[in-house]
Amino acid sequence: MEPAESLHHQKAKKTTVKVREMTIDDLADVFHMGEKLFLAEKAPNTYRAWDEFEVTDLFYSDTEFCLVAEIDDRIIGFALGTIISKARSAWKYGYLLWLGVLPDYQGKGIAEKLFQRFKHLMLQENVRILVVDTEADNLPALGFFRHQGFGNPQEHIYLSMNLDMERQRMNLKRRTNGSG
Ligand SMILES: CC(C)(COP(=O)(O)OP(=O)(O)OC[C@H]1O[C@@H](n2cnc3c(N)ncnc32)[C@H](O)[C@@H]1OP(=O)(O)O)[C@@H](O)C(=O)NCCC(=O)NCCS
Repeated sequence: MEPAESLHHQKAKKTTVKVREMTIDDLADVFHMGEKLFLAEKAPNTYRAWDEFEVTDLFYSDTEFCLVAEIDDRIIGFALGTIISKARSAWKYGYLLWLGVLPDYQGKGIAEKLFQRFKHLMLQENVRILVVDTEADNLPALGFFRHQGFGNPQEHIYLSMNLDMERQRMNLKRRTNGSG
């Protein structure tokens, strides 16, 4: 039986999964995987968009906190995070921004493996609190994070305002003033 095939059937085979730091060669794979997992209209992190800049920016700013999981050289999951230090506070917060596993490989302990590595890195960095966020109806993610020990959920409501009309009025005014 092929390792990936056996993994499909048994959680115990998660030892075939390798978690490692992301490299520049992984950028495209991770980006395209995220495109499938984080649909634009239903992104788990409402205020962050999954696009090529999100991935490359995080990779360049926080390389050591960008992890991938692979089986037989194929990337099947990733975890991207960062550390937030607040002014006038000695506390460091570890923020796991994006976590994803390809649907065929979900439910086999792969996200857990990624998360454990991420947590280990955070402990090494003296992080005091880990933070994640997800949409209230993302039950797999909520189930996963609760299973890892996250609690104390805080409710946030995101409001938005469309500035198109004001922008158009401002541009028109600029043009009128410019020509007059
Ligand atoms: C959330 C996600 C990363 C979980 O990945 P996974 O590899 O399937 O998770 P694991 O197999 O490591 O799960 C570990 C534990 O989490 C919990 N869990 C995982 N998936 C769950 C689900 N669908 N419903 C409820 N609990 C779940 C379980 O307790 C599980 O342990 P168990 O299998 O012993 O019951 C995956 O569903 C995913 O990629 N979702 C789409 C992207 C996303 O929403 N990411 C999170 C926000 S950035």
